Amino acid sequence: TLGEGTGVNPFTNVKEEISNLDSEMLRLIDTKPSALKEAAGYFWGLRSGGKKIRPAVLFLISKSLPSTGATVLPTQRRLACITEMIHTASLFHDDVIDKGEIRRGNKTANEMFGNKMAILGGDFLLAKASVSLARLRNLEVTELMSGVIEHLVRGEVMQIKGGGGLDGYLGKNFFKTSSLIANSAMSTAILGDAPAEYVRESYLYGKYLGNAFQLVDDVLDFEGNVEVLGKERYGDLRSGLATGPALFAEETRPEMRELRLRKFRGGGDIQRALDIIYSTDAIERTKDLARVNAEMARDVVEGWGGERDALRELCRIVVDREK
Ligand code: FPP
Ligand code: MG
Ligand code: MG
Repeated sequence: TLGEGTGVNPFTNVKEEISNLDSEMLRLIDTKPSALKEAAGYFWGLRSGGKKIRPAVLFLISKSLPSTGATVLPTQRRLACITEMIHTASLFHDDVIDKGEIRRGNKTANEMFGNKMAILGGDFLLAKASVSLARLRNLEVTELMSGVIEHLVRGEVMQIKGGGGLDGYLGKNFFKTSSLIANSAMSTAILGDAPAEYVRESYLYGKYLGNAFQLVDDVLDFEGNVEVLGKERYGDLRSGLATGPALFAEETRPEMRELRLRKFRGGGDIQRALDIIYSTDAIERTKDLARVNAEMARDVVEGWGGERDALRELCRIVVDREK
């Protein structure tokens, strides 16, 4: 198992780098009309600007590469900005699609500025991220990170279309969540001129951590504390989405299939789905799969130096987190 905490705080080890991130991103999106900058940079002006888990991963990996020593190169810092900008753009669009009203305890961009500005703000972030990406002058990194944008869109469409059972769900999770972490992790290793095995291991670490992250996210939709999480419970079922808990439950309770196929829209469907899920070990099985992935991520960096312990601790935090 992932065991007890080790006392290492991964976020403390990259505090400096993370604290400079918001202002660097705001500089990157400086533009007229000011309404565009205001909308696009909205999240980063807030006190709770998000967990910044992706940049944390990238900074920790950057500091662990044998080639760069304990430093983060300017190109790697820029990559962290690009990664967080793509992530933020996807959240802007996601909240329009999901009609999300609250994120991280704050109003969403669509709630704050309306759907049009939320979409355009997201588009603008993608455009600016693309320009910054081109300026890195690294074709491989450009290809990897552009591919991520494609993956995010494919993942979202797979989710809307549904179907495919557990395999479809796990595939969708890769496109929607793991691809960004995996490919940006690989990219930071490439920018750091790391040996081939570090490049490969960075990708795998990001992929497994991303898998674990999304599975836990889907568990929190059932078990999370609304106050801590800053969003409502059962949002996935309510929006017609069958995640790990519903899909694992279906393996022993086939009557879930009917509810899933009609997207939990019949009268009392949500409650019936919840009754089925809670009468099985589906949530525990989803957590187990998250743990397995987190352990695989932890094992990948076993032989690393630098911030190895912090990277391993992050695997535990992702599984044990409450928000
Ligand atoms: C959050 O999921 C959403 C994503 C991780 C990706 C969404 C992708 C798109 C909207 C496609 C467009 C992509 C770009 C790059 C503009 P969620 O709704 O399950 O989580 P939540 O509870 O945080 O809202
Ligand atoms: Mg969504
Ligand atoms: Mg959403």
